[in-house]
Amino acid sequence: MQGKLTVDPSNQISKIDDRVYSALIEHLGRAVYDGLYNPGNAKSDENGFRQDVVKAVKDLGIDLIRYPGGNFVSGFNWEDSVGPKEDRPTRLDLAWRSIETNQFGLHEFMKWTKQTGTRPDMAVNLGSRGIDAARNLIEYCNFPGGTYWSDLRKKNGADKPFNIKTWCLGNEMDGDWQIGHKNAEEYGRLAHETAKVMRLVDPDIDLVVSGSSTREMATFGSWEETVLDHTYDDVDYLSLHRYYGNEENDLHNFLAKSVDFDEFIGGIVAVCDAVKARKHSDKTINLALDEWNVWYHSHKQDDEATPWQQAPHLLEDHYNFEDALMVGTMLITLLKHADRVKIACLAQLVNVIAPIMTDDNGVWLQSIFFPFMQVSKYGRGVTLAPKQESATYDSKDFKDVPYLDSLAVYNQEDSEVVVFAENKGEDAMDFSTDLRDLNAKEVVEATQFYGYDIKQTNEDQTMAIQPNNDVQLDGNVLKTTLQPLSWNMFRIKVSD
Ligand code: AHR
Repeated sequence: MQGKLTVDPSNQISKIDDRVYSALIEHLGRAVYDGLYNPGNAKSDENGFRQDVVKAVKDLGIDLIRYPGGNFVSGFNWEDSVGPKEDRPTRLDLAWRSIETNQFGLHEFMKWTKQTGTRPDMAVNLGSRGIDAARNLIEYCNFPGGTYWSDLRKKNGADKPFNIKTWCLGNEMDGDWQIGHKNAEEYGRLAHETAKVMRLVDPDIDLVVSGSSTREMATFGSWEETVLDHTYDDVDYLSLHRYYGNEENDLHNFLAKSVDFDEFIGGIVAVCDAVKARKHSDKTINLALDEWNVWYHSHKQDDEATPWQQAPHLLEDHYNFEDALMVGTMLITLLKHADRVKIACLAQLVNVIAPIMTDDNGVWLQSIFFPFMQVSKYGRGVTLAPKQESATYDSKDFKDVPYLDSLAVYNQEDSEVVVFAENKGEDAMDFSTDLRDLNAKEVVEATQFYGYDIKQTNEDQTMAIQPNNDVQLDGNVLKTTLQPLSWNMFRIKVSD
């Protein structure tokens, strides 16, 4: 089988925004309690922050952390999470039918982002609450002082404002599972009014308005149109969420879902631009893909979980090798949309549908950790428009799916082109990348991730990225073999 990627430095899609390597941390299951925060554990510091988790988060190069949810935020009273820990109330978390102690709250979160070198992306509750709670929260976080809420922040130990730049206007408000679910008219109006007061407190914020929670919603498309009709001038980003699973145990159909992902993103871009055209606006709304991942392994177990526990085991998918390939092809797909996808949050980060898992003794890294880490580390620069040649296959739901999924990122600062390539086929592929006018000097690094049973998971920590020693550079053309069902990366030094 043959596969070829041709790129041209003059044909660029866009600079990749650092915020596409972001993640969601929700008060859900063992994400916060046990995951980030585990006082008394030998691996935790004096704040109760697991240092092994801090290291793994840094290794992933995460930028924004979307917090505190997810569905959780739609029933959350942020005031419960500040002040002396002994005075914080224990509440029922109705979203996940769990007990929330509020021992990890806003100040702890801000401290944790400092330790991990991440930045907050804060969601306000537009489910059970609304404008008033949102304006108070932003005053608490971003106003310098001399008012009730900003002085309370100071009293609680943070003299300087948190200056949180990015804010989400609720979460998945189109879904009837959401606490305070609304129709598009109701949500659009509320989001508009909330954005207005939040900007009155701090005009420099970036706002994300909630789009559809999945492409399968009956209101998909019309939700976005109505919501943007109300909020086009108020917000900067529209959110979209997408999870995939392999419930049918059909590997090739599963990996082909990147085609759906591509169409999903493209469709939302089209809706944003249709509203722009109708409004005769100069402003372009970009996308915040603020939840994406593989999620399905834990569904049955979660349905049977006992309610009203603290830090229960929920959404603890154990990812296998085919899931890593799926995450790889999703990463390539979202980078192809780097011109419009400016924020993307892997959902989630620790213990809950996560690349990083903890137990009492330490962390273990899931299969999906590896492609994410490589793309986050080396996928910095400009996406070059890919011209690809590859054999294709038909699967149950998709036609003409290329066996090859590949992309090149040009990092001008480091004079490097980084190629990410996935072989979705069960045969080895002769692969070449033609760099055209970029003068290839040497291959700095070539790696491959392959050879595992597709159902193998990584609890025993045996999975690892391996070197690929069979790579030739013939002028500006890189030649190698992509192993069957493999994730690959090539870093090539270039001179311009
Ligand atoms: O990430 C898990 C859940 O998925 C989030 O709470 C919700 O926003 C989405 O449905």
